[in-house]
Amino acid sequence: MSLISINTNGFLAAMESTFANLREQLGMLGLGLSIWDAEGQEVGGFAPAGEFCRRVCQAGAPCAARSGDLARRALERGETVSDRLECGCCAVAVPLYQRRRLLGAAVGCFPVVEMLAEGHVERLCDEFGLDRREMTEIARVSCRHSLGELEDFQRVLEWGIHAEQTAAVAQSELTTLSTNLSTTYEELNLLYGISGSMKVTGRPEEFLRHICDELLEVMNISCAAALVYPHPPAVEEELLVVSGPGDLNAQQIRLMAGAYVAPKLARSGRGIVENHFRADPASGLGRAVADFVAAPLIAERHPIGMLIGINKQSMALLPGQTGFDSVDLKLIGSIANQTAVFLANHRLYADLQDLLMGVLYALTSSIDAKDPYTCGHSQRVAMISRRLAQACGLPAARVETIYLTGLLHDIGKIGVPEAILCKPGRLSDEEYEQVKLHPMRGAKILEGIRQLEAVIPGVLTHHERLDGRGYPQGLLADQVPLEGRIVGLADCFDAMTSERTYRKALPMETVVAEIRKHAGTQFDANLVEKFLAMDIEGFMEELRQPARTALPTRLFQEGWI
Ligand SMILES: [Fe+2]
Repeated sequence: MSLISINTNGFLAAMESTFANLREQLGMLGLGLSIWDAEGQEVGGFAPAGEFCRRVCQAGAPCAARSGDLARRALERGETVSDRLECGCCAVAVPLYQRRRLLGAAVGCFPVVEMLAEGHVERLCDEFGLDRREMTEIARVSCRHSLGELEDFQRVLEWGIHAEQTAAVAQSELTTLSTNLSTTYEELNLLYGISGSMKVTGRPEEFLRHICDELLEVMNISCAAALVYPHPPAVEEELLVVSGPGDLNAQQIRLMAGAYVAPKLARSGRGIVENHFRADPASGLGRAVADFVAAPLIAERHPIGMLIGINKQSMALLPGQTGFDSVDLKLIGSIANQTAVFLANHRLYADLQDLLMGVLYALTSSIDAKDPYTCGHSQRVAMISRRLAQACGLPAARVETIYLTGLLHDIGKIGVPEAILCKPGRLSDEEYEQVKLHPMRGAKILEGIRQLEAVIPGVLTHHERLDGRGYPQGLLADQVPLEGRIVGLADCFDAMTSERTYRKALPMETVVAEIRKHAGTQFDANLVEKFLAMDIEGFMEELRQPARTALPTRLFQEGWI
C-alpha cells in the first residue's frame, strides 16, 4: 500500500506497532510509553512504567489521563514538553511528525525515587486503597530513576522515537518502492510481450485477442474487451474482441461501450474508473457489471476505439481497496497507447496493400484487355491457382504467393505486340518466338519490385513442361518449381474453358480428358489428380462472378512477404 494513501490514523497505528520495540526496551528500564493521535486520543493502549505504576493505575489513578494532558500540550506547542505529573512521576511528551505534518505525540513516563521521600507513595496508597507496606516495597524496586535524570530521559526518548520513526518510514518507503517496482515490472513485461506481437502483417483480431488475454491475467478481472470503430465506416464493420469466462456476451459489451463508456471517455478525453457502476434496469445489462476501467484508443488525435477491463476480482484487491485503482488506470492507458499505435500502423499498411493490389489489378487487366477474348484471364488463373495450392495443403503465405503468381503470370506480354496477341489463327514461327519471350520479360519486370520477388520463379516457369518440351528454358520435371506447375495447369485450364478468336470454349469433358491425357508429361500427375478431385463445376460458377468481388484486397495480411 502506498504511504501516501495511508490516512493519519492508519499511519499512527503503523507507528504504534513500530514503537512496540521501543516500549519493550524502555519497559526493561522501568519507563513507560504511550502514543496519542493528533486529537489527543490514545492509540494502542496505555502502558504504565513498572509494577508500582501498574498497580496504582489499576486501582484508579488517572495516570493515562494526565499523560494525555501532556500529550495535548506537546501537540499544541508542536515541541517536546516535560513535567511532573500529580502522581509524582516524571513525564515527557514528544510530538510525532510525518513530513512536517503533526500526527500525534509519544509520552514517556517513569516513577522517581523522590516519590518515596516526598510522601507520594503513601498518599497514592491512601487515595486508592492500596497497602502502604507492600506498595512501598514495590516502589523501592520500581522507582529506579531520580528527578535529575529527566533531561537525559528526554534526550533518549527523542532519539529513540526519531530512530523508530526513521526506520518505519524507511520500511514503508521500501514497501512502496517494492510495490511500484513490481507494478512497473508487470507493466513493462506486459508492454514487452505486446510489442512482440505487434506485427502489422498480422490480423488485428489476433493482436487484440492477445491484449485482452494479457489484461485479463495481469489486472485480475473477469472480462476484458477491445472495441475498434469501423475504418472507413462505410466499408468496414466494428471490430470487437472479448476475453473472459463468459459473464458478458458481445452484445452486452457493445451496449455498455455505447451507452456508458464511450460518452464518459469522450467527456474526460482519457482513461476512466467506475467502481460503483449501476446500469439502467431497462438497459439489459442487469448486474453483470459491478465496476470497470477503460481507456480510449487515440490515433492522430481521433478516438478509434477503446479498451475496457470489467469486474475486478475480489481476491485481487488489497486490504481496504475497492475496485480499480490508479495503477489499473495507468496500466490500461499504457496498453491502449500501444494498441492505438499498432492499429494506426496496421491501417497504413493495409492502405499500402490496397494501393499495391489496385496497381497490380490495373496492370494485369490492361494486359488482358489487349485481347477481348482474354479479358479476366489473369484473375481467373490467380483464383484457380489459389484453389489448387489450397488443395495441396500449402501454408497460407505460400498459397497467397501462388495467387499473385497466377495474377502476374503473363505480365511479360506487356512487350508483345497486340497484332500478335490478337492474331486470329496460327502464329508464324517468328511470332511464336516473340510470344515465348514473355515469361523472361515478366521475370525481368518483377525483378525491380522487392515485395514481389517470391512471385518470379512461378512467372518464369509457367510454360515449362515436366517432359522438358516447355519454354523458355526447357526445364525437366523436378527443375520446375511447384509455383510454375500450379500456375501452368491453371493457365491451360482457363485457356481451354474460355473462348478464343479461333475457337469456342471446349466442353468440360474434353478439358478434363485433355488434362488427364497430359498428366506426367505436360502437367504434374499429382497436381492433376488433386485438380480433378475438386468441385470444378461449382468452381466454374465462382469464376463467372464479377472478378474483383471474388478477390481479396489484403493479401499481405497473411504475411506472405
Ligand atoms: Fe503465359
